[in-house]
Amino acid sequence: MKISLKLGLWFFVCIILIETISMLYLHNHVIHSRVNQELQSLKARGNSHRDVLEISFNDSTLNHIGLMESHTDTEVVITNKNGKVLLSSGPVSESIDKILHKPIGKLNRNGKIIQADWRKEHFISTVTNFKVDDGNQGYVYMFKNTNDVRRLISQLNRHFIFASILILLFMLITIFFLSRALTKPLISMKEATKKISKGDFSVTLPPPSKDELGELSRSIQTLANDLNYLKKERNEFLASISHELRTPITYVKGYSDIAKRKGLTEAERVYYLEIIHEEAARINMLLEELFDFAKLDQNTFTITKEKVHLSSYLQSIYEKVLPAYQNKGIQLLLKCQESIFIEIDPTRFEQVLMNLLDNALKYSNNPATTHIKAFIKNREVHISICDQGIGIPQTDLPYIFDRLYRVDKSRSRASGGFGIGLAIVKELVEDHCGDILVKSEVGKGSCFTIVLKENFR
Ligand SMILES: Nc1ncnc2c1ncn2[C@@H]1O[C@H](COP(=O)(O)OP(=O)(O)OP(=O)(O)O)[C@@H](O)[C@H]1O
Ligand SMILES: [Mg+2]
Repeated sequence: MKISLKLGLWFFVCIILIETISMLYLHNHVIHSRVNQELQSLKARGNSHRDVLEISFNDSTLNHIGLMESHTDTEVVITNKNGKVLLSSGPVSESIDKILHKPIGKLNRNGKIIQADWRKEHFISTVTNFKVDDGNQGYVYMFKNTNDVRRLISQLNRHFIFASILILLFMLITIFFLSRALTKPLISMKEATKKISKGDFSVTLPPPSKDELGELSRSIQTLANDLNYLKKERNEFLASISHELRTPITYVKGYSDIAKRKGLTEAERVYYLEIIHEEAARINMLLEELFDFAKLDQNTFTITKEKVHLSSYLQSIYEKVLPAYQNKGIQLLLKCQESIFIEIDPTRFEQVLMNLLDNALKYSNNPATTHIKAFIKNREVHISICDQGIGIPQTDLPYIFDRLYRVDKSRSRASGGFGIGLAIVKELVEDHCGDILVKSEVGKGSCFTIVLKENFR
């Protein structure tokens, strides 16, 4: 069932329920007070006849009252204290007679309602007693035909039915538009996720509102954009890596053909084999990148931690990378507190430092210095690699740890970067329960700091 229909139905059922209950309550209340009003006015009329009778009790007054009531929709019957009818404004029917014979009980000056049931009886009725100074006593009965009351009520009912239908109609229209307005963004989000699941990430959702639905829409849009970016970059990565694999393979094939030829001097053969060896190393490096990328995608780096003396560990890495730095004419300095021990996976952590040092070298121009520093601050081990290279623009900083992100694509590719290094670094540092921070200024250099919990000292 469609969500708009479901929502609409729920609204409808709830509103029908609320409307029925409130209408029934209102209807009963209005009818009750309307009938009560009729009874009160009947009683007031009886009381005013009583007042007149008490001032002047004679035939002429009685006739006058009878005459008055014969021209209204009410009827009056005046009896003496024994129940003998002295005056009646109309014929005394059976139902009136029945009321006249009802026991009255205690009566105060205000009179009383003797019959209020307008549904079953022919008349509603009130009674008031009068006492004249000369000793005459009696009762003034007032009657109103319940047909009149019923007519009044049915008129009221018609108003109620009309109002209910009108409210229902307005509600239906409101529900229709409301459920559509509520479900429209949901439907477009559903379409968008359907498109995403089919691999089409080019979705554009309408501008999101500032509520939960808006947040959801924003998240879907971000997801689609990220996936789109990743898909584009992944294709580019695979295309360039396969393209780059082709070159060394052609060399290997070509030079091995030459090396196979007879009549080559030993020196020539060694020269060709050297080239083959170099190209094989390049193939190896490219495959390593590919492998890392696949691992990054599956989150399958395994960490086996052991206690490491940081200073000697860094010294060995320093010695490994120093020749490359010297080659480019960049100074590399290491400064590490002697007493630091940390718990890390030495191979994985070397990958982290190698990536950072590779970047520092790759993005520095001669002359410059790169510092490796390690120290303890606030019971945490800080390892920083700060270069004096080209720096990273502030707008790019939040993204440099995203996989396949490169600041200057043409420059990075020229120097062989795929934009995977920092993504691996971040993932590995997080696998060590650490954090990596970066500060950078274009033209001045970048500083990457790894912060790890101190485990040993
Ligand atoms: N020390 C640095 N100085 C200046 N820019 C840097 C530095 N380190 C990283 N960057 C920028 O961040 C981007 C991402 O770095 P990352 O190491 O992930 O990729 P890469 O070096 O381009 O390629 P890879 O490391 O996969 O060979 C780089 O392309 C570069 O633009
Ligand atoms: Mg790199």
